[in-house]
Formats: sequence, C-alpha cells, structure tokens
Amino acid sequence: MNMNPDIKSLNQEPPKKEPERQYYFIEKCRRYVNSESIRLGRTLNAAVVNFGCQMNARDSEKLAGILEKAGFNLTENEDADFVIFNTCTVRDNANQRVYGRLGHLNSLKKKNPAMKIALCGCMMQENSVVEKIKKSYSFVDLIFGTHNIYKFAELLANMFESGSMVIDIWEDTDQIVEDLPVERKYPFKSGINIMFGCNNFCSYCIVPYVRGRERSRNPEDIIREIESLVADGVVEVMLLGQNVNSYGKNLENPISFAQLLRKIDKIEGLKRIRFMTSHPKDLSDELIQVMKESKKICRHLHLPLQSGSTRILNAMNRRYTKEQYLALAEKIRREIPDIAITTDIIVGFPGEEIADLDETIDVVKKVKYDNAFTFIYSKRTGTPAAAMEQVPEHVVKEGFDRLLKVVQDTARQQAFLLKGKTLEALVEDVNEQDASFLTGRLSNNTIVHFKGDKGLIGKIVPVYLKECCGFYYLGEIRQGI
Ligand code: 5AD
Ligand code: SF4
Repeated sequence: MNMNPDIKSLNQEPPKKEPERQYYFIEKCRRYVNSESIRLGRTLNAAVVNFGCQMNARDSEKLAGILEKAGFNLTENEDADFVIFNTCTVRDNANQRVYGRLGHLNSLKKKNPAMKIALCGCMMQENSVVEKIKKSYSFVDLIFGTHNIYKFAELLANMFESGSMVIDIWEDTDQIVEDLPVERKYPFKSGINIMFGCNNFCSYCIVPYVRGRERSRNPEDIIREIESLVADGVVEVMLLGQNVNSYGKNLENPISFAQLLRKIDKIEGLKRIRFMTSHPKDLSDELIQVMKESKKICRHLHLPLQSGSTRILNAMNRRYTKEQYLALAEKIRREIPDIAITTDIIVGFPGEEIADLDETIDVVKKVKYDNAFTFIYSKRTGTPAAAMEQVPEHVVKEGFDRLLKVVQDTARQQAFLLKGKTLEALVEDVNEQDASFLTGRLSNNTIVHFKGDKGLIGKIVPVYLKECCGFYYLGEIRQGI
C-alpha cells in the first residue's frame, strides 16, 4: 500500500481504493498547509474539540492523526488556524453548548480571516442542525457527519480548494475503512472501536438515527490494531461500541463478544482490557465467565439501567424487566465479587410517575452502584418518545434530586469498602491541583491520588488506599502487593 504518494502521482486521478485514496488527499492537504505556512511565515495550528462520548473521543484522535500528517501543529487552544468541533446530540444541552462555542469561534475568525472552521459528529446527522448552521453560522467552512469521517482528508482538501461552505452528510454506510492515521491522547492507553452504530432503538435515543445500523469490525483487524498499539507502548485498551454485547453477530463468520475478549486476552504485553457499553438484554453467561477467568479484563462493568420500573422500561423499548435486571446484577456480583457496577439512569421519561422513580431508587439500593450517571430526559426530535406526553419540568427536577442523593450515598458506601486495601493503579497523569501528586486509575475504574514521580506515568503500581474521599481515594505507593 502506497501511503506516501510522490509528487507526480498527485497530478493523476486520486486512487479509488481506501485508505490509499485518503493518503493521497493527506498529501494534497500537506501542500496547502505548507504554502499557507510560507505565506503567513509561521506554522499552522489546528484544534480538535470533542463534545461527546468515548466514541467521539476516539474519532477525535483519528481527526487529529490526519491533521498532524497534513502538517498542522496540534493545539488545545481554539485560537487556531483550523478548528474542528466533533459534536454530540444525545441530549439537547450538548447541542446548545456547540452553538454557544460557535459564537466564540466567529469572533476569533474575525481576527484571523485565514482561520477555517469545521463541524462533524452526531449533531451534523440532523437535517435541522445543518439548515440552522447554513442560515445562521455561515462562517463555518466544512460540515460532515459520522458515516464519512474516514474521508476527512478528502473533505479537508475540498475545503481548501472551495471558496464556499463544503457540506457532505451521508444517511448511512456499511463501510469500515482500516489503517488511517491516529494521534493518541495518551501514549499508554487507547480506545479501540470494535463496532459502530446501534440497532436497539430505545424510544428516547437518537443514536441509532445518527450513527446508523450495527457494523462490527473483523476480529483480525481489531487484534492487529491492538498488537501494534501494544508494540507502541499501550498497556490498557478500552473496546468501544454502542452495544458491545452484540458484537460480531453480523460478521461473515459470526463470533461473540466473549470470544473476541478471549482472543484479546492472549495479546502479550497488554495489561488491561476495558469495554463499554453493555446492554443488559444481551449480556451472556459466557461473558461473565471470561471476565471471571481473565487477569486482564478490568473489574468494572457499565450496565445502563435507564429505569427501574418495568412499565417505563417497556415504554423505553429496553427489552428487560426490573426483575431480570436485578437477577443479572446479582449474578454478576456473585460470580465476580470484586467488580464495580456502574450505570446510566434517565429521570423524567414521558409518563414517569413517582411510583416509577421509587422502583428505580429501589434498584439503585439493591444493586449498590459504584457510580451512576443520572440524566434528565431530553426530548430528541424524530424519536418515538418525543411524541409521548412529557413530564412537567418541576416534577422531573424533584425526582432527579431525590435519585441523585441515593446514588451518591450508595457510591460512597461502596467506595468505603476498599479503604485500607492495596490495589494496582495505572498512573495516568500528574495531579491537576498539586503537581507532587499523581493520578491513577484502579481496575474498578475509581481514581486514586498519591505522591510520586511523573516518570511513573503509564506504569501500573500498587497503591495503598489510605483515605476514601467519596468518589476517589488518597493513597500511597507500596512496594509489592
Ligand atoms: N435523554 C436523556 N438521556 C439520554 N441518554 C440517551 N438518550 C437520552 C435522552 N434522550 C442517556 C442514556 C444513555 C446515555 C449515554 O445517555 O442514559 O445510556
Ligand atoms: Fe441509544 Fe439504546 Fe442504542 Fe444505547 S442501546 S445507543 S441507549 S438506542
């Protein structure tokens, strides 16, 4: 595969095949960046701003990889020559943040007319959003969606050549393009997409509309990617998918998620494996077994509940009951006693009554979540729930506060159980508040702060959990467990 097209070949037609085609356009972008750089007498800066989930964060690393190869200097500062917002639309407040920040970009562009602005990600898959941007944010130079992100280099080249806004949104795709450049945020850990899209159509959720149908990557491609990451210093991977438990079902040679985990578990040099998200309806006994047997799979399971009321779960199209969920959580805790279970809960789904929220609170108390993300229901246009009768805002707010208190109490109680233990932590960073401290992550995903040298970043060290501060620990490095 020719990843570095020579000068002559750029005068020819771009290759039809991927990823060769994108490498051709990366080279093309390089030339634009280079000539612009000469014109301005300085290197050009580019910022990738992420608004969404871990999937989006991984996509942002791919965008950054291409920008870097195209000759940009990557920066976190939005006062740059090229800024791309990788947007999220799962809840309306994510959309509002993007509009707010766009206003700020406009003022920066007035000061630097050579500045280019791009928008991509889930929010761009909504027609109404693109229409609004065309009308009210005409200073934006490039818009694309989730399905053609692999074409970023080509779109970037189009943008450099075109004098007007470039828009390319696809309805769906069955294509997965491998082997494009990636610029990782952390040298020692990485997200890996194992599948894209979602087929579940929970009635509140916009994801299946903006991310398309489920597509799994081939296990060989996933393993190859992880092996090369490990050779490059990665010790922890996070396998990403909207519903990892249905991984592999649509492959030519079907394989289960548990089987994929067994293969990844064997990769030498890899120390930790995480994954998200698991849909409770698809979580198999085989998966529990693999987690139990593995020394590498982290002791953490994110198992979105959404609601504890069977009536509401039914309206949400979640396809499990309160009792089924409770039985599953109990089985997981019995089989893997040191596991942390975390969850997502929505408050204020249409038709939710006080008695429904009581059921949710009952589940929280019974499962004793180690952490829970609680969300106020957000009406997403085009989803079935948007047409249902909405709960008044003040009722939602009261319910939300009541739930939050229980969630925080159980999480705190769970965290106290580990106080006084010594556990392995992957050192991730220097502490933001006090540079003499490091921040590490336990296998169960909890954070611990302890004194240490920044040379330990990327290493797994034993840490004594001296003090429990609610959701994190203060600890001390120990020699040997
Ligand atoms: N409103 C509120 N929360 C939502 N989520 C998904 N869609 C919505 C919505 N319309 C939450 C779910 C999901 C998490 C990623 O976001 O809890 O698990
Ligand atoms: Fe949305 Fe449900 Fe799919 Fe999760 S499983 S992405 S909540 S539709």
